[in-house]
Amino acid sequence: MTILVTGGAGFIGSNFIFYEREKHPEDRIVCLDKLTYAGNLSTLGSVLDAPNFRFVKDDICDREAVYRLFEEEHPDIVVHFAAESHVDRSIENPGVFLETNILGTAVLMDACRKYGITRYHQVSTDEVYGDLPLDRPDLFFTEETPIHTSSPYSSSKAAADLLVQAYHRTYGLPVSISRCSNNYGPYQFPEKLIPLMIANCLADKPLPVYGQGINVRDWLYVEDHCKAIDLIMRKGRVGEVYNIGGHNEMRNIDIVKLIIKELGKSEDLITFVTDRKGHDMRYAIDPAKIHAELGWLPETLFAEGIRKTIRWYLDNKEWWETIISGEYQNYYQQMYGHR
Ligand code: NAD
Ligand code: TYD
Repeated sequence: MTILVTGGAGFIGSNFIFYEREKHPEDRIVCLDKLTYAGNLSTLGSVLDAPNFRFVKDDICDREAVYRLFEEEHPDIVVHFAAESHVDRSIENPGVFLETNILGTAVLMDACRKYGITRYHQVSTDEVYGDLPLDRPDLFFTEETPIHTSSPYSSSKAAADLLVQAYHRTYGLPVSISRCSNNYGPYQFPEKLIPLMIANCLADKPLPVYGQGINVRDWLYVEDHCKAIDLIMRKGRVGEVYNIGGHNEMRNIDIVKLIIKELGKSEDLITFVTDRKGHDMRYAIDPAKIHAELGWLPETLFAEGIRKTIRWYLDNKEWWETIISGEYQNYYQQMYGHR
């Protein structure tokens, strides 16, 4: 079987590729990634020359390139991770979010219709449900919660989800959608909360906490997310949405304090900064459906996962230091410039 993974040079996509190669070494994996600022090809360094693996640098919005790839590879399953993923950037510059997240999704699904696939899986987010109030801890996002977005990022992801459902109903495309809560773990780009705080803490730089730091996110270790996607794309029902989350709600300020403590630094590094515009207060997933239908449960507790993650950033300083220096963007040229 051939699995096309888009966005595999990013955080979750790369973890997913490693998971699949371990779990299903018999499957061929083709990774399609544009290598935007968020894509780091060195992350995939250990698999680039492996049998059953191919990396292709192209834009999902480039119809000709995408059709050419389908013509060559005829993937059985498409798992679509590629996206602009950072809320703060979407507030500064929404345009590229609309192009990649909405139009790119349509191009991919058109290719799926033209060449035929057994499953198209859309990797979506709990952010399409908007937010929950802090004073109602009894409320959770279910698959029936109405779409109600806050940021250009979440709106673009919601638009893509609606298109995916439309392609299922109109053209009978065999789709599934997963909506996961915030991920953390190895290879996360150091612009997101946890890796940014680790990197700044280690450099004794200020730790910018938005607003009062009381916003709540529901954190899931990335490997648990990968496991859920693998189950859904192989065994989940066509046309269905599955929420993924592990009932692990934390306030931002508590995460920052925990990182400070683990790294033996001072809380004086915390700097409260102007709040994010339209900042969602609380995300919280009800994962009852994926548990009941597919038996999925998270395996990594937050206390263990955050320690593993901090350890990984300590042991892999070069990975994130070359990102901060910008040097990582030369990796493609080094690997493929002469081929
Ligand atoms: P990321 O920003 O780390 O990686 C995105 C990858 O997509 C990068 O490798 C980038 O080069 C690639 N890409 C971007 N635009 C492209 C284009 N036009 N063509 C081809 N490739 C392109 O993102 P992530 O955190 O790994 O998220 C992956 C997916 O999971 C996204 O769809 C995101 O919405 C979703 N998601 C993320 C989280 C989270 O906590 N990070 C939670 C739920 C859902
Ligand atoms: P982020 O990692 O950007 O994920 P998302 O916005 O998709 O949930 O941010 C997680 C939370 O941390 C969010 O409430 C915003 C907050 N945050 C900060 O307080 N400071 C920061 O520097 C960043 C990047 C995020």
